Amino acid sequence: MRRSLVAGNWKMHGSGATITGLLHSLVQALGNEQDGAEVVVCPPAPYLSLCQQMLQGRAIAVGAQNVHAQASGAFTGDVSAAMLAEFGVRYVIAGHSERRRYAGETDAEVAQKCEAALLAGIAPIVCVGETLEEREAGRADAVVARQLGAVLDHCEGEALGRLVVAYEPVWAIGTGRTAEPEQAQAMHAFIRRVLCDASAALAETVRILYGGSVMAENAAQLFAQQDIDGGLVGGASLKPEEFISICKSVGRQWKPW
Ligand code: 13P
Repeated sequence: MRRSLVAGNWKMHGSGATITGLLHSLVQALGNEQDGAEVVVCPPAPYLSLCQQMLQGRAIAVGAQNVHAQASGAFTGDVSAAMLAEFGVRYVIAGHSERRRYAGETDAEVAQKCEAALLAGIAPIVCVGETLEEREAGRADAVVARQLGAVLDHCEGEALGRLVVAYEPVWAIGTGRTAEPEQAQAMHAFIRRVLCDASAALAETVRILYGGSVMAENAAQLFAQQDIDGGLVGGASLKPEEFISICKSVGRQWKPW
């Protein structure tokens, strides 16, 4: 059984003042919510500590947007998984399409980042998803299988059960063009089959989130799909009312496989 999860990816947005305000609203609406979806916020790195302090003892977890694959070393500007763990970070996004595109992250690097996170006790949220060109060429399944396969081949053991997969079709990110619920469900079911090929236990426990223009108005329909266990929300997670409404519309669902 899998508990629903909603993660807000704030990307490179916000300031101390706006983030403090956003957190106040979220804490008020969701901070004591034990019966709803698991909620995670992923701020830009400088605000991780602020978020951790403001969310201590609350039912909202903190996630990072990136991590380095190595434990330590001469990697100027990077942050290790152990450092994140020291600041109470419980999740980390790995392989977001923006990092694959702008920072040139490869499947192999993303797999190493997932492994580093798992070793530090942090759950990686690995992002997979095809571009519009790849979808139109009929290659969406192959692209997603390759991206996820790299992680499944590289990471081993029980810890992999803590992996979260986010299906984020690149053409739906920040475009206002959401995947149709049935279209998203078809890819989520495919991802679950890929997980099952690795291990039936993984297919049962790994949560698969949908990301790409999730909004309050389309969230319930998406989350009603059998294999959609929650969402990875970008723009809408910066608007408190919108994000709270998305979290509430997911609610606490336990989906069997
Ligand atoms: P939007 O919700 O703004 O489309 O962004 C999705 C995303 O990239 C979350 O990681």
